[in-house]
Amino acid sequence: PPGRKVILYQFKAFEMEIIPANRVVVQIGEMLVLTCNTTGCASPSFSWRTQMDHPLGGTVNNYRTYSTLTMNPVSVENSHDYLCTVFCGGKEKKEKSIKVELYSFPNDPVIEISTSLVAGEPATVICKIPEVYPSDHLEVLLMKEGHTLHEKNFFEDDSTNTETKTVTYSFNFTTEDIGKEITCVAKLPIANMDFEPKERVTSLKLNANFGPQNTIITVSPSNLPVEGNPLKLTCVTESNPPAQVVWRKHLADGNIEHFIENNVLSIPHARFTDSGLYICEVINLVTNKTEKATVDIVIQAPPKNTTLSIFPSSVVKQGESVTISCTSADVPAVQITLRKKIGDPLILHEFWWFFCFCLFLIFTLCFFSVPPQNITVLVYPSENVKEGENVTITCSTYSNPPSQMVLKKVHQEREIILPSVNGTFTLYNVTKNDTGKYLLDVFNEVGNNIKVIEIAVVGRSMYYLKLILFAPSNEFSIAIPVVAILIYVSRKAKINGSYSLVEALRLKV
Ligand SMILES: *[C@@H]1O[C@H](CO)[C@@H](O)[C@H](O)[C@H]1NC(C)=O
Ligand SMILES: *[C@@H]1O[C@H](CO)[C@@H](O)[C@H](O)[C@H]1NC(C)=O
Repeated sequence: PPGRKVILYQFKAFEMEIIPANRVVVQIGEMLVLTCNTTGCASPSFSWRTQMDHPLGGTVNNYRTYSTLTMNPVSVENSHDYLCTVFCGGKEKKEKSIKVELYSFPNDPVIEISTSLVAGEPATVICKIPEVYPSDHLEVLLMKEGHTLHEKNFFEDDSTNTETKTVTYSFNFTTEDIGKEITCVAKLPIANMDFEPKERVTSLKLNANFGPQNTIITVSPSNLPVEGNPLKLTCVTESNPPAQVVWRKHLADGNIEHFIENNVLSIPHARFTDSGLYICEVINLVTNKTEKATVDIVIQAPPKNTTLSIFPSSVVKQGESVTISCTSADVPAVQITLRKKIGDPLILHEFWWFFCFCLFLIFTLCFFSVPPQNITVLVYPSENVKEGENVTITCSTYSNPPSQMVLKKVHQEREIILPSVNGTFTLYNVTKNDTGKYLLDVFNEVGNNIKVIEIAVVGRSMYYLKLILFAPSNEFSIAIPVVAILIYVSRKAKINGSYSLVEALRLKV
């Protein structure tokens, strides 16, 4: 009918729900919002409580048609059945509950290995599973390269809150274990709880700290480094973690030169002055050990502007001192001092390799040489002998290089030359014809010395005694020697400053 006012209500029954419904699985530490929602009620009133009337452990916010209970963060105190009760208009009441279930498995396990792994010593592996709840479901497996080392469960655990659980395992660490993988598998298999992940895995390589050890320096090129060429020194060591390398060089003046820290020391154009003792020192900062290696580098360089000076003069007399200085660019000065007294050894200070450089220059070194002198002649049994006897002439001398000697009979149409055997000559079964002067010629490359021996052979009744010795003044008839041989021989033969002729002759051979 007209004028009749019809009010249409969209009628809806009073309903309520909790979101999420029935059951929620939440990780301790996260945020959980429970919503109690209504429909069909103009102004509902809400009430939240736990079943045993424990504290709510959250914040309630009421809106016109719904209410929220916010737990931030969720803690073990929130492990309850929550009940939401809604009153609508004072006469209608509805309620629903939700079960809040908690777990905690937030992080992968952490593997710790005893600080210094040393082969042959026990190693301890510790696997820590942080903040686990409920830990009575926790299972832990320790493995090495896929093989189980150790298994542990915590089924007896009665922790009521999150706890970090630890599994420890010790084993004998060997060198084969270096680089092997240790794995810790932690499982929290709660079948009726819906969360992921339920298994967490961490692996770690067994990394033993060792060294430095077996440190060496390799030189490239490996043959003698030559001036102007590149030179590379590499310090090789075994160390974990890698060692730090410091290069040093001992300088000629005794100082030490430091280089940048790098295991390769590269010299693009080696100079003679790069010669020296190189030291590579390595340090492992974890084991706190150091090791050193050294190499003596001599850059082969031809001497430049070489000069040789002799003081006071290149011709000297016996007993004088002679100083020979050989200098060269890029080569440290060297002095060869020679002092000679009769019977004393030659004193020769030398730097051998340098000596060799100078050798070709030192042709004047011939005055190292001494012609035969101090000749001693013994005639046995005597210079005057009877027919049929043997006469032995023994000669010793001092000379450098060693002397040779021959015995000649003079004033004869047919010259008889007798060679010596170790400085000894023997005339066997002498006859009167053997009477006469004999020249004993003692000579080396530098000069010679002649002794005259007069042998008188008489009939068995006659007897003479006569000996004439004289020394010609040809001691310094200097011959040009072959220097290298000379020096070699002079070194070899300077035995306590005096020559045994026998020794000298032996050396000569
Ligand atoms: C409550 O329920 C209604 C109807 O299902 C929905 O539209 C609304 O978004 C819900 N409110 C909350 C806070 O969940
Ligand atoms: C390493 O050795 C030095 C000297 O011996 C010492 O002062 C330092 O404390 C050591 N460091 C470690 C980590 O052991």
